[in-house]
Amino acid sequence: MQGAQDRQATQSSASPAMTPWLESQIQKVIDDIYYKYKDVEDGVVATYIPELGKANPKHFGICLTTVEGHVFTAGDYEAEFTIQSMSKPFAFQMALEKHGPHKTLQHVGLEPSGEAFNSIELDPRTGRPFNPMVNAGAIAIASLIKQSPIEAGISAFVEKLSRAAGRHLSIDHSVLASETETGNRNRAIGYLLLNAGIIDEQVQQALDQYFAQCSVLVNCRDLAFMAATMANIGNHPTTGQNVFDFQFLKYVMAVMFSCGLYDYAGNWAVEVGLPAKSGVSGGIFGVVNRQLGIGVYSPRLDAQGNSVRGIMACRDLASHFGLHTFDFSNVGSSFMQWLL
Ligand code: DON
Repeated sequence: MQGAQDRQATQSSASPAMTPWLESQIQKVIDDIYYKYKDVEDGVVATYIPELGKANPKHFGICLTTVEGHVFTAGDYEAEFTIQSMSKPFAFQMALEKHGPHKTLQHVGLEPSGEAFNSIELDPRTGRPFNPMVNAGAIAIASLIKQSPIEAGISAFVEKLSRAAGRHLSIDHSVLASETETGNRNRAIGYLLLNAGIIDEQVQQALDQYFAQCSVLVNCRDLAFMAATMANIGNHPTTGQNVFDFQFLKYVMAVMFSCGLYDYAGNWAVEVGLPAKSGVSGGIFGVVNRQLGIGVYSPRLDAQGNSVRGIMACRDLASHFGLHTFDFSNVGSSFMQWLL
């Protein structure tokens, strides 16, 4: 566990100056949120992928990264975990970049399902998965971005995420093996998609691509940078590299806003009001468009499969910094206002 004294606001040399007062104000809010929820023990660590059950339930990390490259951290922000469903927005972005919206949206819809993430169903009106954030939609998307040989598509995905994080990422092969062995529900979804004509007959390859995507190791800092890269019109805040074609980010963030927290998405939209994505490993990342990225991690999950302390921390961050997309009652305290 990181001690308070180890945490500090860091900034790249290329970033505009932030006054020490401002840095300390932002850091204090993040520290306060961390200590407020540090001892919450509600929720349970996911075990349906057996390897995920080995996560340390005490881990709790927060990271906030601005589009200028200022980084604020608390707790176990460097603890690594697999990205799981937080890979889905990035895979959707890659499909849009590779095939364009017309073809991509023939394979997946844009509507919230209101169902659990692993629901074995298609939208009865369209015959497609409801959206790219549920497993059915993500497996359809994995089928669209897989390559031959399969390793090439997996490498392209890991490489894309690495550029968004600003460091070299890799796959956790124990988690990958664990999900490959036990993922019969996803296999059922894969064959449902084949039967519906949504994916080609290379079902196993689509699943291999999907399981590998879910097994990329990240930490809160990576998530915050990936989110800040989305917020920064697709450009990484400190490397300056263009990672995402910005014309598709509006599709990705819109679907994250309406579907990113599954059957909690409506409550999330009201309480936090940001495009975001959760994963069963216990991470959540959120995007404040043109301003910053948030990454939080705490492996204990609620009944919807979302991180309990992660949601609490995001709620407080949004309220303290005035980040809610539709919040105009607090202009004076908005993060944007602070930075001006
Ligand atoms: O397919 C699965 O079940 C996992 N690899 C990912 C699910 C997930 O992260 C759902 N998020 N809350």
